[in-house]
Amino acid sequence: MTREELKSTAMAMRKRAYCPYSHFAVGAALECRDGTVFTGCNIENAGYSPTICAERTAVAKAVSEGHTDFVRIAVAGGGDNFCVPCGVCRQVLQEFAPDLEVICLNEQGQELTLSLRELLPHGFDRSFLPQES
Ligand code: THU
Repeated sequence: MTREELKSTAMAMRKRAYCPYSHFAVGAALECRDGTVFTGCNIENAGYSPTICAERTAVAKAVSEGHTDFVRIAVAGGGDNFCVPCGVCRQVLQEFAPDLEVICLNEQGQELTLSLRELLPHGFDRSFLPQES
């Protein structure tokens, strides 16, 4: 899939969003090193906190299918702002792909591309934890 196709896939996934509370539809397309792409959308809940973002939906689909080597993600939201991943999603993406390229899209398909390291500087990761013996 080309970069442009990844972007349009994320934008198309906004149609799958279940967002009756925020009315803010988000789509994501997560590309693996082998070229496999996993998609996601946000899925909201009346309990609010069980809501899952589009990015984490895509990560859960990928990891549960045996894919953990991610190179790029496109995230598409509504309105004029470039849709950046929330803090929780940045942390989840960092677990698997600290060098990820993040393409943030607005409703018109304009983009702001950032590295995950720019979005999550000084991130907490496994290197802080005691080493297994
Ligand atoms: N949301 C995402 O899916 N991804 C983001 O990067 C930002 C926020 C969702 C969560 C919630 O369903 C709605 O957007 C409003 O916060």
